[in-house]
Amino acid sequence: MTSTEDSGTGTEDRRVVIVTGAASGIGRAAVELFAARGHHVIAVDIDESGLSDLRGDPIVLTGDVSAEEINARAVRTALDRFGRLDTVVLNAGTGGTPPLESPGAVEAADRILGVNLRGPIHGLRAAIPALRHTRGSAIFTASVAGLRGDPGNWAYNASKGALVNLVRAFALDYAAQGVRVNAIAPGLTRTAITSGVHRNPALLAEIERRIPLGRVAEPEEQAEAIWFLASPAASYITGTTLVVDGGLDANLGILPLPGQGF
Ligand SMILES: NC(=O)c1ccc[n+]([C@@H]2O[C@H](COP(=O)([O-])OP(=O)(O)OC[C@H]3O[C@@H](n4cnc5c(N)ncnc54)[C@H](O)[C@@H]3O)[C@@H](O)[C@H]2O)c1
Repeated sequence: MTSTEDSGTGTEDRRVVIVTGAASGIGRAAVELFAARGHHVIAVDIDESGLSDLRGDPIVLTGDVSAEEINARAVRTALDRFGRLDTVVLNAGTGGTPPLESPGAVEAADRILGVNLRGPIHGLRAAIPALRHTRGSAIFTASVAGLRGDPGNWAYNASKGALVNLVRAFALDYAAQGVRVNAIAPGLTRTAITSGVHRNPALLAEIERRIPLGRVAEPEEQAEAIWFLASPAASYITGTTLVVDGGLDANLGILPLPGQGF
């Protein structure tokens, strides 16, 4: 089976996809998945060197998604090179929430909100005219941290919680124009942003004990959820956040999980 057959589309149906946060983790997995399934990908990240070894031969663009310029440039590139844009995966994100009372805490929150919230707003704003033509779709990467709070993670929680509601609002604004807007909410996923956890085996084991499926996610599992939301199989889905968390959010968390000794 060729990669094109894999996608269920012929070469004439190759979609054009922008992925932000493409140099690493979930974004990298999404770039490589869309490319392997025969689609054209424009990969955007602030980390130029991380973009250099992406598989699937994407077009790479370097820039900070919290600014308008790179978002507009990505859309221009899609239209100049391929004449269309079908999907934007607005995935770039950052953490690093400081204690509320520490010096510079509000400025740090502005930075996090700039990347995680303003970035997808710029990204969708730039893409909408092109998506309207293709009746395309946008996928934001929210988080389970946008569904509940975490200790010590207030700025990140705020940014991701806002995204969950933003997809509802944008879905309403653009449904009549044929543009779908959705999000994924990953649970803990093995990427650079969670490397602190992965370097601490005792903490990782404790976290995995609380996840019903008993393990963290691989970035490829998040990319598959993005793929689904972007695909024609999701043609009636808009304004939703697809939780991809191994059952974490399903659990009230009071009782121990089966097999944990009670
Ligand atoms: N890994 C997890 O457990 C997890 C869980 C829930 C949500 N998420 C979200 O998934 C998304 C992808 O993160 P990941 O886990 O793959 O982490 P990652 O650190 O591997 O990848 C994030 C990428 O975003 C890029 N980026 C950061 N700031 C940027 C900016 N201003 N402009 C352009 N690019 C920028 C980084 O350079 C990096 O390549 C993020 O939005 C993150 O918040 C991750």
